[in-house]
Amino acid sequence: MPSHVSAEGSSSVGLHRPESVDRSAQVDWSSYATSYDLLSEHNPEYQAILHDFEAFLGTIEKPQLIYDIGGGTGNYTEIAARVCPDSQIRLVEPDAGMIGLAKAKLAAHRNVRFDTLAIEGIDAPGTADLVICVHALYAMPAQEQRLADLRRLLRPGGWLYLVDLGRYMNVGDWRSYLFSNLKKEHGVAGALRIFWQGREIAKQNKAIFKAQKKGVYWTHTEAEIASAVIAAGFEIVRQQSVYRGYSDLLVCRAQP
Ligand SMILES: C[S@@+](CC[C@H](N)C(=O)[O-])C[C@H]1O[C@@H](n2cnc3c(N)ncnc32)[C@H](O)[C@@H]1O
Repeated sequence: MPSHVSAEGSSSVGLHRPESVDRSAQVDWSSYATSYDLLSEHNPEYQAILHDFEAFLGTIEKPQLIYDIGGGTGNYTEIAARVCPDSQIRLVEPDAGMIGLAKAKLAAHRNVRFDTLAIEGIDAPGTADLVICVHALYAMPAQEQRLADLRRLLRPGGWLYLVDLGRYMNVGDWRSYLFSNLKKEHGVAGALRIFWQGREIAKQNKAIFKAQKKGVYWTHTEAEIASAVIAAGFEIVRQQSVYRGYSDLLVCRAQP
């Protein structure tokens, strides 16, 4: 069961959403892109997952081929490129605004390739040692197939570092959490200034909530994502609730 229940209520639509769902209710990732890293910088929960990922990289054999699926502005690819300078890293991201920022941020790294693609468009060779997919699966259509796509990218025994938003995005709850953190560090005036600069974030978070309510974006409990991942051919090595109970983190290995 989810460890967090939002003010809007908790429920799961499971994996079997109607095929006819109207996918026009979605986030405008390009509009989100410009303020996305403001969220990344000022949200301790976002930072905690980045730290977890970096620590995880220190525990595994150096991967040769890494995919960052739905890599956004490249924050996870940046860590992978820094910690694994000899690895080949492919950042796969369909949104031009998001990937444009990632390209600018990661220009100095010669080992990163950028593919402006959705995961559905990848022809998978099945040789990756590590696939990263953070806060992107929920926004994709047909999670069963998308999890199978993630599995197909990996060699047997390869790692999947998966984080997914599962519970309804409670915009008011996040607003108070972020504001009280910002206030501690920057005072009320500073917090208000950052909120103003990042006003697009609240707008797009509302869009996420709307898309979740309409069933366009996937919501799930901890148990549901675990069974979906196992059904796609993974063994779960570690699972925990993150992002204030809104998301699930799963470290998995591809079964032979
Ligand atoms: C919330 S952002 C996460 C970005 C990054 N992983 C991070 O955690 O900072 C979600 C990203 O998923 C991407 N996305 C949406 N549908 C996708 C698909 N079908 N295949 C790959 N990426 C997708 C979006 O374009 C967006 O950049």
